[in-house]
Amino acid sequence: MSFIKLLESEISKILVSLGYEDNVALLVSNRPDLGDYQYNGCMKLSSIYKEKPIDIANKIVEKLNQTNYFKSINIAGPGFINLSFSDEALIEYMNEIFNNFEINNYKVEKKLVFLDYGGANIAKELHVGHLRSANIGEALKRLLNNCGVKTISDVHLGDWGTPMGLVMNEIKHMKPDLPYFDENYDGVYPKESPVTESDLAYIYPMASKKKKESETYASEARELTQKLQNKDKGLIALWKHIVNTSSIDIKRVYEDLGASFDLWLGESDADPYIDEVLNLLDKKGLTYISDGALVMDVCEDEDKLEIPPILLKKTDGSILYASTEMATLYMRIKEYNPSEFWYIVDNRQELHFKQVFRAAKKSGLVNENVGLYFLGFGTMNGSDGKPFKTRDGGVMSLKSLIELVKSETIKKINDNITDKEALAKDLAIATIKYADLLPNRSTDYIFDPIKFSDLNGKTAPYLLYSTVRMKSLLNKSLEEKIGYKKYNILKTDLERNVILNLLEVPKVLENSLNSKSLNEIAEYLYKLTNNYNNFYASNKVLIEKDTKVRESWLVLTELVYKTNKMLLNILGITVPDKI
Ligand code: ARG
Repeated sequence: MSFIKLLESEISKILVSLGYEDNVALLVSNRPDLGDYQYNGCMKLSSIYKEKPIDIANKIVEKLNQTNYFKSINIAGPGFINLSFSDEALIEYMNEIFNNFEINNYKVEKKLVFLDYGGANIAKELHVGHLRSANIGEALKRLLNNCGVKTISDVHLGDWGTPMGLVMNEIKHMKPDLPYFDENYDGVYPKESPVTESDLAYIYPMASKKKKESETYASEARELTQKLQNKDKGLIALWKHIVNTSSIDIKRVYEDLGASFDLWLGESDADPYIDEVLNLLDKKGLTYISDGALVMDVCEDEDKLEIPPILLKKTDGSILYASTEMATLYMRIKEYNPSEFWYIVDNRQELHFKQVFRAAKKSGLVNENVGLYFLGFGTMNGSDGKPFKTRDGGVMSLKSLIELVKSETIKKINDNITDKEALAKDLAIATIKYADLLPNRSTDYIFDPIKFSDLNGKTAPYLLYSTVRMKSLLNKSLEEKIGYKKYNILKTDLERNVILNLLEVPKVLENSLNSKSLNEIAEYLYKLTNNYNNFYASNKVLIEKDTKVRESWLVLTELVYKTNKMLLNILGITVPDKI
């Protein structure tokens, strides 16, 4: 059990023995001059048991004084209990986690969480808008796994909507003689894709421009989408080429970002379930035709803002984002039956998910006790406060963003490093990820490539350089045969601060799981690293004469190193061997 959990359960026992309820939470003190932690529960107990808070506090403190966890206990104000831990208790805990690092982790009982993140669109280049879904989703998956929760992740490619019709229409305009467009063709379709990765890079932007300029072009594209969704033989064959070609590039970018998925499915995989879902809704009498389209009401009496009906089928019979979403949910429940779904998608899609979740619960498609969570995220902006753009104001691709940051990080790397290019790329990705996970998930933030690649401050390079330095200190101690087996003495206040930080790890993980955001972990990493660096700057670990002190400091260094490595790994950031 972690130290703070242990103390909470000790205090619970005391409360029970005094005849009170036992709901105990210890908080890091906001007055470190008075104590390390606080117990503020006496106010609440006072209102329940009609006793003065100070009397309750006194009774608790009397019992706490009989334990040996504390060096000082005092009561402030009407009944706040301030606790400062004894050196012996801290040292004992350091030794416990030195022997079994997992004690200082957080584990939770939860069944299976299905994560939907990534969400790249076929035939469209990934842009910075896709970055956050991949970063946050991957980190949440790692957080869940770290805490002992099983997950299934799906990239949920956009491969079935109107953009597919647009791309096909442009290909048709470029190469009208291709057999895919000939309805009378009954031969075998070519094995080779008619388009390459680089073709696709300009086909979609071109088609999307033409659609805006010409209604004929737009309606041709709509017709192709509809034909595709009706499984036209030729179009399906062409579509497969497009999906395969585009996936190569998408996979490469996700690999660079370190985002991986158990399932590589797309919207199209839910298509076989659409009719089943629509029938189910129809049988329950939930759908109706409005202006020619098939819709379902999802508004509720308590709604402050009007929630419009969910659109399931257009007048021309083509299916929509919401119907695909419902069918995907249905398919996932059938195949995996998870207890929770987490969708990591841009804040701008909040209404879509609200409608889908309501429709899913209202129709019984999803069981009452299944948790459906829309985890929206804010936008990554440039210094002008608008979505991050290229210099000439265009949409910035993810690849260009990585290149841009790489050109900053490479300046920080020592010339004697062998593979400078590769390290610069890893550092650039770490820089982007840390900057992206540092703000609360749902807020917009300004990405400044120069600030975030700095060696100082709340940046990935600062954390990585510091962590690598800890590792090289530990390696040196091994080379010089300076062993360390246990924590003996707590000598300085700077080192005590680091220990107090280490005690917080389980709580930081618990809070992050509850908020489903990574910002607390990112902030904590900076605090711990900074406090360790303060300690390190004023104490020469390896040349310390007192062997007991030196040994303790090495244990401390190892514990901070391992903690950093674990938490950075949750954020999807790998610690290099050398920088
Ligand atoms: N492809 C979508 C987009 O780029 C994101 C998909 C999010 N996931 C979902 N289940 N709808 O907007």
